[in-house]
Amino acid sequence: MEKFEILGARELNGKIKINGAKNALLPIMTSTLLAPGNYSLNNVPDLKDTRTMAELLRRIGASVSFKNNQLLINTVNVSKPVAPYDLVKTMRASFYVLGPLLGRLGHAEVSLPGGCAWGPRPVDIHIEALKKLGVNISLEGGNIVAKGNPIGNNIKFKFPSVGATGNLMMASVLGKGQTILKNVALEPDIISLGDFLIKMGADIKGLGTSELVINGKDRLNPVDEFDIIPDRIEAGTFLIAGAMCGGSIEIENVNPDHISIVIDKLIESGVRVKTVKNSIIVNGNKKIKPVNVTTAPYPGFPTDLQAQWIAYMTIANGLSTVTDEIYYDRFTHVPELNRLGANITMNKNTATIIGVSNLKGAPVMSTDIRASASLILASLASIGKSKISRIYHIDRGYEKIENRLKKVGADITRS
Ligand code: UD1
Repeated sequence: MEKFEILGARELNGKIKINGAKNALLPIMTSTLLAPGNYSLNNVPDLKDTRTMAELLRRIGASVSFKNNQLLINTVNVSKPVAPYDLVKTMRASFYVLGPLLGRLGHAEVSLPGGCAWGPRPVDIHIEALKKLGVNISLEGGNIVAKGNPIGNNIKFKFPSVGATGNLMMASVLGKGQTILKNVALEPDIISLGDFLIKMGADIKGLGTSELVINGKDRLNPVDEFDIIPDRIEAGTFLIAGAMCGGSIEIENVNPDHISIVIDKLIESGVRVKTVKNSIIVNGNKKIKPVNVTTAPYPGFPTDLQAQWIAYMTIANGLSTVTDEIYYDRFTHVPELNRLGANITMNKNTATIIGVSNLKGAPVMSTDIRASASLILASLASIGKSKISRIYHIDRGYEKIENRLKKVGADITRS
């Protein structure tokens, strides 16, 4: 199994280009199932999840090729509307095929995603909403079997779930009549999915607000060119790396509006942040001020940067708290960060971090995508050598992270 070796405490300086957003890409890939034809997606990150989703689309009957960060998808043949367990268990976003397959075929079978490394992740909001669209849903052999063509209805989500919003948008655009979705997610990934669906010919009003009005169409058209938006989580991760390691990092190809809360928090922590069009420059500061964060749905502080922020606060000058209000159990990185010399204690979904003057390199183990990112950040800031094992997690969400960090001066090798 591959691991990273990092020799830490080196200043980082230079430019890093941000790639396309995984969480925008995955539902856009499944939405190509809605209308038969040829699609071309650009700025596609070369991730394990991209390849897993490509494999899922192939099993359903599509043909997919991926080269030079461009995906070519043909969905003329969609013959087997099944997302099997072996793929769903490695990537929960496989659940995104449910909505479009119902729209196109009125039939989908998707393995029920179990929990994940950091606790239960239910899909009840998706299921309840699809039932309201008249879809018949049963559980057979661990698979959700959904049958019926969606019929418009009014739905108010009890929580603005990203996945349920995406799935229901995709289920409704070919549905019969009007669907009104209330309390929807506002994440840029969902807005981008909406833009893509509108480009396919979907009638969606209210994109960017918490209420969507969708008038079902009889058919949609394929989209021959679409650019995946920049990944705000990747951007936030590299900004925190710059803030932690001193020096000056410029991240390019980013939409600063998508991470304004992260920029505000970084400034509060005492680092200088400058935004120029699609670039953000962060200048590290040796004295980091402690800054509390609580995660919330967009435009709040993203749960996908919670682990990285905790890593940052381990070397702040004082006490801070980080609370995760989206995923209460998403803290598997905490004991690993403590192995590097951090002083973090947990109480329910709140981490209390007392900053230490130095972290010290150690062997640690990554447990999920963002936990891995936090361990890389902490190791980069540690004195001495760290070894991070199980790094296959990081390859799910960050394209060749070690090469990009090396370019700005990090001593990191994969072995
Ligand atoms: C997406 C992101 C993930 C991010 C998360 C929250 C993708 C592929 N993944 O995941 O990186 O961490 O948003 O920003 O885009 N919930 C329910 N029932 C449901 C659905 C969700 O109770 O049916 C709960 C979840 O347990 C969680 C919260 O709602 O507590 C948010 O989940 P959701 O927004 O659905 O996240 P995902 O779409 O799974």
